[in-house]
Amino acid sequence: MQNLLDLESLSTPDIENLLDLSQNMVEILDRPIKKVPTLRGKAVVNLFFEPSTRTRNSFELAAKYLSADVINVQKSGSSVEKGETLWDTARNLSEMAVDGVIVRHRVSGVPQQLADILDIPVINAGDGSHEHPTQGLLDALSIIQAKGSLRDLKVAIVGDVLHSRVARSDIWVFLALGARIVLVGPPWLLPESYEEIGVEITTDLRQALVDADVIQVLRLQQERQNSKELPSLWEYHLRWGITRQTLSWAKPDAIVLHPGPQNRGVEIDSDILDGSRSWILRQVRNGVAVRMAVLFRLLGGGLDE
Ligand code: CP
Repeated sequence: MQNLLDLESLSTPDIENLLDLSQNMVEILDRPIKKVPTLRGKAVVNLFFEPSTRTRNSFELAAKYLSADVINVQKSGSSVEKGETLWDTARNLSEMAVDGVIVRHRVSGVPQQLADILDIPVINAGDGSHEHPTQGLLDALSIIQAKGSLRDLKVAIVGDVLHSRVARSDIWVFLALGARIVLVGPPWLLPESYEEIGVEITTDLRQALVDADVIQVLRLQQERQNSKELPSLWEYHLRWGITRQTLSWAKPDAIVLHPGPQNRGVEIDSDILDGSRSWILRQVRNGVAVRMAVLFRLLGGGLDE
């Protein structure tokens, strides 16, 4: 049995293979009738213990477009509220002849722990501040569609890197595909350890954006900020917000990404978010295609490792 727990441990050929397959799935999404019989007779559980709009619904649609059956389990309304452990919940659900588990949890490492006790594939849909592998893949796919490849592109990842599982997955996949990565944001939100793996770090937004081909804007995770360190949201916006003026420092054809959900007017202005250089809604559509590819690989084919 194989899983998708992170991008750090995937080989570059595996990543490329998943991205090629995702592009094929994009073509299925463009058809008037999107349902294909690939996973007919299979069933998956969406086990979401943290809120989600994009990831949960796109996994559900991805499974349905491939003709798999889906059940959705959330903490609220499940027997976890009566004291059942997550492990017992997962074991019981897997006994219902399901073929895969998709899990989101606020604690880093939970998908790995489920993979250790279950004999069906486990897919990480975001665990704590560890990784969000399908988001990393859909971000890479969006850049490839816009730019042809990531090789030698300058990608600026802006904002709350410290708390971002998206940033972690992006870093692994962008490095694997040959991009130059610059992390920028307030000093207390920039883990210095990334320099050891060849990522540049700066607190100067202009320095990060000059010559950038891609700007990945991260959500300021206000719920996790230390109020002593965080200046007012207005000051954050002034120094690290993506606005018409700060975007002008990047290449004229630079694209803007954001994994969502967004704080409009904090890390990004509405006119940029909704503007012509925003690839944010394409990211959402690509999310369905990437999740179709991952489900196909794990439930229908298997990763070549
Ligand atoms: N990007 C992302 O993970 O969004 P959701 O929290 O809505 O799933």
